[in-house]
Amino acid sequence: MITTKFFMTFRSSARRILLPLARTACIGLVLILPMTSSIAAPLKEATTTEQRVQALLSRMTLAEKVGQMSQRNASDGYAPDYLGDGLREGRIGSVLNVVDVDVVNELQRIAVEESRLGIPLMVGRDVIHGFKTVMPIPIGQAATWNPAVVEAGARAAALEAATTGVNWTFAPMIDISRDARWGRIAESLGEDPFLASELAAAMVRGFQGDDLSATGTIAACAKHFAGYGAAESGRDYATTNIPENELRNIYLPPFKAAVDAGVVTLMASFSDLDGVPATANQFLMRQVLRDEWQFDGFVVSDWNSVHQLSIHGLTANDRDAAFEAATAGVDMEMAGDAYSSHLEELVSEGKVDIDVIDTAVANILRAKFRLGLFEQPYTDPDDLPPIANEEAMQAAKQAALQSVVMLKNDNDTLPLNADSLGSVALIGPLADAPYEQLGTWIFDGDPELSITPMHAIHSLVGRDVDVRYVRAMQNSRSRASEAFDEAVEIASDSDAAVLFLGEESILSGEAHSRADINLPGDQAELVRRIRATGKPVVAVILAGRPLTLTNIVDEVDAILFAWHPGTMGGPAIADLLFGVESPSGKLPATFPRMVGQIPIYYNQKNTGKPPSPDTVVLIDDIDARAPQLSTGMTAYHLDAGYTPLFAFGHGLSYAKFEYDDIRVSAGEIGLGDVVTISADLTNAGEVAAEEVAQLYIRDLVGNVTRPVRELKGFQRIEVQPGETVTVEFELHTDDLAFYGRDMRLVTEAGDFHAWIGGSSETGLRTEFRVVGN
Ligand code: BGC
Repeated sequence: MITTKFFMTFRSSARRILLPLARTACIGLVLILPMTSSIAAPLKEATTTEQRVQALLSRMTLAEKVGQMSQRNASDGYAPDYLGDGLREGRIGSVLNVVDVDVVNELQRIAVEESRLGIPLMVGRDVIHGFKTVMPIPIGQAATWNPAVVEAGARAAALEAATTGVNWTFAPMIDISRDARWGRIAESLGEDPFLASELAAAMVRGFQGDDLSATGTIAACAKHFAGYGAAESGRDYATTNIPENELRNIYLPPFKAAVDAGVVTLMASFSDLDGVPATANQFLMRQVLRDEWQFDGFVVSDWNSVHQLSIHGLTANDRDAAFEAATAGVDMEMAGDAYSSHLEELVSEGKVDIDVIDTAVANILRAKFRLGLFEQPYTDPDDLPPIANEEAMQAAKQAALQSVVMLKNDNDTLPLNADSLGSVALIGPLADAPYEQLGTWIFDGDPELSITPMHAIHSLVGRDVDVRYVRAMQNSRSRASEAFDEAVEIASDSDAAVLFLGEESILSGEAHSRADINLPGDQAELVRRIRATGKPVVAVILAGRPLTLTNIVDEVDAILFAWHPGTMGGPAIADLLFGVESPSGKLPATFPRMVGQIPIYYNQKNTGKPPSPDTVVLIDDIDARAPQLSTGMTAYHLDAGYTPLFAFGHGLSYAKFEYDDIRVSAGEIGLGDVVTISADLTNAGEVAAEEVAQLYIRDLVGNVTRPVRELKGFQRIEVQPGETVTVEFELHTDDLAFYGRDMRLVTEAGDFHAWIGGSSETGLRTEFRVVGN
């Protein structure tokens, strides 16, 4: 308690003096403890991480081992008071949800100095898309198609979070989702395994850096393993049924990419996968993760998900749940007490093999050694850059700029020209909503740092343009339309209207799924009222998911889809609206015309009766005289057709990009060879801009059916007006591999189509053949 007060009272100046001392004490602890202990020899001789892990493990009691496997919530009051004893007794391996550096240091001090073995703590927190400085929500970051920007965002987040002593984030969330109803699609990297894999690796690199033990790097956690994004009807936590072939080809690749990028931890999903909840799923955690991928970090459960095995109906009680989860390979239990209450007994009774426990504990200790926690368990914020520094704000702005997708721009309505525009009306509930623009999962995000579109537009063009603002709706869900008259009035008096529509942050995220994904409240009515003024209407939509925009898409001239763009969303949107920058985001998920089309995604299978424009007869066109004959007998909806409103990869620019002359380096290649596919990309417009060129392939025949298109490469390229560049993609035949009928990865010889273009709908096609045995 004395030390507690000590740490609490003398804030940063004392830290400067005390921390070096504490560090020395801690290093001393690791070095000196063995001398005074009966098990001195193993630690003293241990030099490699693996030797240190084994040496420490050999000294641990069963209770201490189970302690390492137990994580406790530290968010209620002053945690050293209620976790202190557990820490001293070695019954806690990790805490989560504490972000006061003094409290974290005190928890570490108790663990390191007052427990028998002095093992430091993993300190976890959901740092999902920024810490105080907030980046766009992950699906927005995915819309940048820019691994460097995503990596920089994670880096900035790690540096800020590390100032509090947090050394582990529960990110990246890399669940593939084809269902915009699911609230957590906001947290995801979209629908495509290739894009999500590239960006997952970038996030892992951003959080973990090159050297995990360096100051300011934190452990990442790839979650939720696996299949969570396929929750039935997009209802969060609902059952998933994913055939193994689809699991391997679609849902698992981002996790494999994260493992290959060195991610230290994975989180088991809440969801039920084919009858066995992920938290008890041996196939996932033993066979795939350990045996096939050789993962040597650790797996944490989701919040109390071990206990929930009984709620799922897989086990009868916590004891059985602890048995199932530990046996399946969950190394650490988050926020529950099934492990701490039952594992010791299960081992003593011979139900759980001690090897299971030793392996789990070794996995956890290995992570702690890699993080350098034994050398440096304490945090001095002064060792780290200040919060919300210029670099972090720039990372947030760049990410926001590149995340915005221009869905339509009739008659070049955008960009607005500040020189010729006399006045502009800003209307809507999200024009000046500092908190809402941050989006879901911003435990620590600081709305005071937010620059809103309204403020940013004022500072960008306020001197030249008369900027008027009417909120018109209290929030995005409002059904009160009293303020619409005032909105109509300012729109009528202005040269253009910009509507800030969408969803407040509460409408997406965990446990915030929607069955109707239209603009909520009376927004569509507001759009119609403003449209009736006859003024140019631009919609800027801030939302946590793809929305069905069918009922407003023809009522506006241009749409910028900005997701929840984070702290610097305002300046990014202002720059895009007024042409300081050109939009360059591309959709990472398909936008349906109507909710009933879900799941709708670009990399679908062909079916035996694929639809085409000439087979589609929509409901209003059915010939009353011969109804059966008039419809095309193919795979489409009578009332929605088969195409989305906006396709995966779509996104417009102020430049005019044209693709031409696609070619392959060889019409025929052998297994193990590389083929180069290239095309010319011309900017026929008048401004320089960045374009994301995309490569898709189709494997025409496979031992399991293959998608009609699969993304296999993308590049962000700046092209000057009038310039033509060659975009070139190299494909190794390994890049064409897929899991076949026997669930093995294989590249089959055969014919392939390849497309290059600015969206998944590109028609610029070539072909090549792979020959082999
Ligand atoms: C979520 C996880 C999160 C955890 C800790 C759970 O409800 O599913 O993604 O990391 O809580 O906050």
